[in-house]
Amino acid sequence: LRSYSISSAFDFGGNLFPLSQTQAGYAPLGTPSALDRQGVDGSLERNKTLTYLNGLSLIVGLIIGSGIFSSPSQVNANAGSPGASLIVWGIAGLLAWTGAASYAELGGAIPLNGGAQVYLSKIFGELPGFLFTWCAVLVLKPGSAAIIAIIFGEYVVRAFVGADTESVSPWINKAVAFGGLLLVTLFNCISTKIGTRIGDLFMFFKFIALLGVTIIGIVVAITGFSSKGSASEEWKTQGWFQGTNTEISDFAVALYAGLWAFDGWDNVNQLCHRRIQKPQSRFARVIHTAMPLVILSYLLANVSYFLVLPHDVIESSNTIAVQFGAKVFGRVGALILALVVSASCFGSLNATTFTSGRLVYAAGKEGYLPSIFGRIVSSRFLGDDSRFGFTPIYAMALNASMTTIYIIVGEFGTLVTFYGVAGYTFYFVTVLGLIVLRIREPHLERPYRTWITTPIIFCCVSLFLLSRAVIAEPLQTLIVVAFILTGIPVYYWRIFKRDGQVALSGWKFWKWRSR
Ligand code: ARG
Repeated sequence: LRSYSISSAFDFGGNLFPLSQTQAGYAPLGTPSALDRQGVDGSLERNKTLTYLNGLSLIVGLIIGSGIFSSPSQVNANAGSPGASLIVWGIAGLLAWTGAASYAELGGAIPLNGGAQVYLSKIFGELPGFLFTWCAVLVLKPGSAAIIAIIFGEYVVRAFVGADTESVSPWINKAVAFGGLLLVTLFNCISTKIGTRIGDLFMFFKFIALLGVTIIGIVVAITGFSSKGSASEEWKTQGWFQGTNTEISDFAVALYAGLWAFDGWDNVNQLCHRRIQKPQSRFARVIHTAMPLVILSYLLANVSYFLVLPHDVIESSNTIAVQFGAKVFGRVGALILALVVSASCFGSLNATTFTSGRLVYAAGKEGYLPSIFGRIVSSRFLGDDSRFGFTPIYAMALNASMTTIYIIVGEFGTLVTFYGVAGYTFYFVTVLGLIVLRIREPHLERPYRTWITTPIIFCCVSLFLLSRAVIAEPLQTLIVVAFILTGIPVYYWRIFKRDGQVALSGWKFWKWRSR
């Protein structure tokens, strides 16, 4: 049996920031630091034994956020009928499930922190790993933060103006989105502890929000209630597939919106960083209950929407939960749902900001970005000796700046597709790496081994998705490709700067002073 050794700044231990201030920068996997043992960082406590319920809530909490309360409009508008929409949600869920199982295998086979960056580097070499990081820093992380912030902004505004008032200037939404971003960035700059505490607190709201919509849906379905003019009324006479779109490319756009709600499954490898007994069976149990659970609750939530809301409202509203609350419980219902969903989004925004900070920081430490981003700054606010007062402020600032740009130029629909194209490009290559690794290193120790059909299905479906994006959204795809390609010269520049030498297709170049 073989296993990989550890050698990367991306191997962030359980407690990146406090440690790096005083010690070498990062700790090897096998030697947990004192801080590690204390479990300073709430979200990645490697040495905590993972119970089944811990794992379940970890995965479900990472996935639920803004999507199920905002994506239905885009799914419906592009799928055309409730039946087709539900199928899109199902396919998106299955794709996320196969992806999660694949990432779990990779996480076990290459037991290092850093996710796709590390897997790509180990399997295909440093350039693909770098390109992932490059794209994550410039597109994926700020892009997803911007989407969540925008939905946060829309829901907060709805809490004030109610469900009916149609037109609110998008700039007001964006201003609130920016305010939310500023707040979480500030928290995470002051203290990593505050950041994780907020995360734990707001995790609760996600469950409440989704559970609320789902349970109401079940009640509504059982009692046979369906409101006048709701989509289900319309389709009772016309059939659930009436109006289904025949344009395949539009389905790709619908799928990206659905996939956004399931995104976060790539974090299942966080399971691998916990101490775990009988990993094979426990991983399998956690993943194979968490994913169906999320899929089922999303499907139920959608059925609730269909039973209660008219089709044109579903199609046109990014704040569907507010309209839903208003229809079932009136003004108070709208307010409660607006607040709960805003809180859920705020929690997600906070979590994303926290992990983005780590990623940019690690990229700075590795030499991928200018070293300033790998600097930890003591926040005087809590005093110099505070373990929790050291945060990667420059990394946070870079992330917040990029996010702000996306908030200004983007809106939910375009950003979700943009994010999806960039994200699934790397998900595809990474899962392809799993297949390559199976062939190249069949005897590698794999605590969790998925069926080989799992990554194959994932690769086929995501390849279809990517190929269709070129047709459906050529501009977005072009921008993503341009972003990735600009990473190539940057890679050689950074490696040259870091190592004093670089190899370009057979030719080796050295820095003069390093000879
Ligand atoms: N599925 C989440 C949502 O609906 C998005 C999670 C994004 N975070 C991430 N790490 N990819 O809001």
